[in-house]
Amino acid sequence: MRKGLRMNNFDFYAPTYFAFGKDQENRAGELVKRFGGTKVLIHYGGGSVVRSGLLDRVKASLEKEGIAYAELGGVKPNPRSGLVYEGIDLCRKEGVDFLLAVGGGSTIDSSKAIAAGVLYDGDFWDFYCGKAFVKQALPVGTVLTIAAAGSEGSGDSVITKEEGMFKRGTGSNALRPKFSILNPALTQTLPPHQTAAGITDIMAHLYERYITRTTEVEVTDRMIEALMMTLIHEGPRVIENPNNYEARANIMWAGMMAHNNSCGVGRSQDWISHMMEHELSALYDCAHGAGLAVAMPAVFSYELPHAMMRFAQVANRVWGCPMDFANPESTAKAGIEALRNFLTSLGMPRTIGELGGSEADIAKLTEVLCYGDGGNGTINGFLKLDAVQCAEIYRAML
Ligand code: NZQ
Ligand code: ZN
Repeated sequence: MRKGLRMNNFDFYAPTYFAFGKDQENRAGELVKRFGGTKVLIHYGGGSVVRSGLLDRVKASLEKEGIAYAELGGVKPNPRSGLVYEGIDLCRKEGVDFLLAVGGGSTIDSSKAIAAGVLYDGDFWDFYCGKAFVKQALPVGTVLTIAAAGSEGSGDSVITKEEGMFKRGTGSNALRPKFSILNPALTQTLPPHQTAAGITDIMAHLYERYITRTTEVEVTDRMIEALMMTLIHEGPRVIENPNNYEARANIMWAGMMAHNNSCGVGRSQDWISHMMEHELSALYDCAHGAGLAVAMPAVFSYELPHAMMRFAQVANRVWGCPMDFANPESTAKAGIEALRNFLTSLGMPRTIGELGGSEADIAKLTEVLCYGDGGNGTINGFLKLDAVQCAEIYRAML
């Protein structure tokens, strides 16, 4: 019998305090106080939280606890470095000691970047281009308005540097939020495209962990499968009825579980789809989830010969494809097709063309992915890929 690769040793530290459910945003002040904040920067996006009245409720909650605040709106989806620099200056000027992100993954990531940058002598971009590691940051709290990126429970942050449009990430336990408020009702105002993009991103976070070289990881395999099946069940229900609180609640918690790494510990992970997608959303400024809907089937089809039984297993257990023991490749392929059809049924795109691109962009996408901002010509995930291979995968997305 073939000996399995043991579950890897790991440390897992995920101390975020979650307040989940209706009206929980009214506890923002209480939670900031509990985690030691005395002067807050409220950070938010392009205005959805102003229009919904959420920002006013959060401010009232801070005022009730006597907590002073400054505010900085204007975070764009695929958040930019320019606003991070502005936030760092503002925090230093105002003596801010706590970042409160009110919004989605972009706002939370921008807040994390500011929180790390305020306590750092150099350029905060050092953390994102691999020159420095985040050892300390101001505490961050979040009031989440979209189930997607999982930044509310993760130690990760992704920022786009305007000069060169490099979209890069960093990760550190120091960036994990002190608390996150998750009220599923707040996501009911999302446009359908954003709801669907969020579900796609959550699905991608699960696949990136499922595609592993580590065997004998039954517990995390089964957790991932359960979360995937939840999305398959709840996704169509929430697209059909955006006010379905129960479906939104399940998707919101799935989004957190998918990315705080509780189902990724002890196993090698992939992340090629994410690396390739970050160039799509940097170039086309599309929703991260929309880019992933295009990227995942192409990446997985390329990886399939190297992870046949993994893809066959997820096809069978999650997508209900009959296992063809004589020809597992056909089962594996059927699973990738089922994923693609599911994402299309939610309204997600299938091709680079639908994102506004064309074949003429392949060289640029590949160049920035493999060589941009200090790249060495390859990317490393489940497979190590060079520029020729990456270009081939991008072409499969046309
Ligand atoms: O800016 P506003 O006006 O708030 O509008 C936003 C934005 O246009 C809107 N929105 C959010 N909540 C809403 C709402 N509109 C109406 N009602 C609501 N309740 O939705 C749009 C998208 O928001 P955004 O924050 O960009 O979405 P998401 O949470 O998908 O975040 C995407 C970013 O997260 C990064 C992605 O690369 C992308 O930059 N990621 C971060 C990760 C992490 N930190 O762990 C991991 C992920 O893999 C991902 O890479
Ligand atoms: Zn993602």
